[in-house]
This record gives sequence, C-alpha cells and structure tokens, in this order.
Amino acid sequence: MVGIFSSLSLVFLLLATTSYAVPVSHVTLICQGTLNPSFCSSLLKNQNESYFHIAQYTLDVARANVTNTINLIKKLIAHSTKDPTEKTHFRSCLYSFGPNGVLGDINYAHFLFKRKEYEAMSVAIASIQSDIDDCTKRKSPSDAPYHDPSQLSKYIHVVELVANVILIFAKYLVP
Ligand SMILES: *[C@@H]1O[C@H](CO)[C@@H](O)[C@H](O)[C@H]1NC(C)=O
Ligand SMILES: *[C@@H]1O[C@H](CO)[C@@H](O)[C@H](O)[C@H]1NC(C)=O
Repeated sequence: MVGIFSSLSLVFLLLATTSYAVPVSHVTLICQGTLNPSFCSSLLKNQNESYFHIAQYTLDVARANVTNTINLIKKLIAHSTKDPTEKTHFRSCLYSFGPNGVLGDINYAHFLFKRKEYEAMSVAIASIQSDIDDCTKRKSPSDAPYHDPSQLSKYIHVVELVANVILIFAKYLVP
C-alpha cells in the first residue's frame, strides 16, 4: 500500500511541477542559483506560469537576444575601420553566433524542447558558452587580446545570462 501511495503522490507531484503555475517565491529561490539572481528575477517577473512556459519564454528571449547580437555584429562589420584585427574579430564573432554557432544551438535546443528531450536540450544550451568563447577568447596565447569598445560585449553577456537561466530552470522540466 505504501508503495502505491508513494507512486501516486509522485505522479501528482510531477504533474504539479509540469503544468501548474510556479509560485513567484519558487522562481525567486531558483533564480538564486543563477549567475545573476536579480537579472533572472527581473527576466521572469511577469512569468506566473508553469516551468514548461518559463522554458518556452526564456528560449524565445534567448533567440531574440541572439538575433539582436547578430544584427549588431553585422552593423559593426559594416562600420569597421581599416584595422584588420577589428574586422577579423567581428567576422569570427558573426560565425560564432550564426547557424553553425549560438543560433544553431538555440534552434536545436528549441527542437529538443518540443520533443521533451530536456537533458539533450540542456547539452545544446550548454554549448552556447563554448561558441561564445570562440568569439571572445584570443585565437592563440600570443595574440594580444582584442579590446572591443562597442556594445557587443554587453549583448553577449545578456545571451550568457539568459542561457544560464534556461539551464537552471531546465532541471525542473519533467518529460
Ligand atoms: C499567479 O496566478 C495565480 C493563478 O492565476 C494567482 O492566484 C496568483 O495571484 C498570481 N500571482 C502573481 C504574483 O501574479
Ligand atoms: C533580449 O531580449 C529581450 C526580450 O525580447 C529584450 O527585452 C532585451 O532588450 C534583449 N536584450 C538584448 C541585449 O538583446
């Protein structure tokens, strides 16, 4: 009897976590585990819904932020000076954020999300960081770090923070 009872309550718990609204207090608590808790709380402040909806919403935000970043990089390339280091840097970032990089990771994560393959989705989201590193890190240890005075690093940081929120909340998704 105890066994049946526990499995019934487990089923109830799982249903509760997948389809019911997540109390704001839980969102705030889970946000404490992210890289930037106040960014997380303000990102999710109007999210009074299930973990499923939170994941869907944050994936959409991530895609919008990546698209903004790509558009910014294109603008930076168009306006870049004759400095070959600058152009090379932005071109490399355009590739890192494109369909073979961050945008591809997000699209693949979205695809896996729809299939309820949440662990694989987390792996896809986690690879965003290494694609971002390809843009921001020096190509070889002997290279001088490229100092980028544009807004790009701010945009990139937003993408990192949103990806981190997705990763932390993905743990609460139940297939
Ligand atoms: C969230 O939604 C529930 C149910 O619709 C409601 O009772 C609750 O007051 C809402 N909380 C906030 C903070 O909006
Ligand atoms: C990220 O996306 C959100 C939602 O679309 C938007 O409000 C925010 O301004 C975006 N930030 C950047 C840096 O793209």
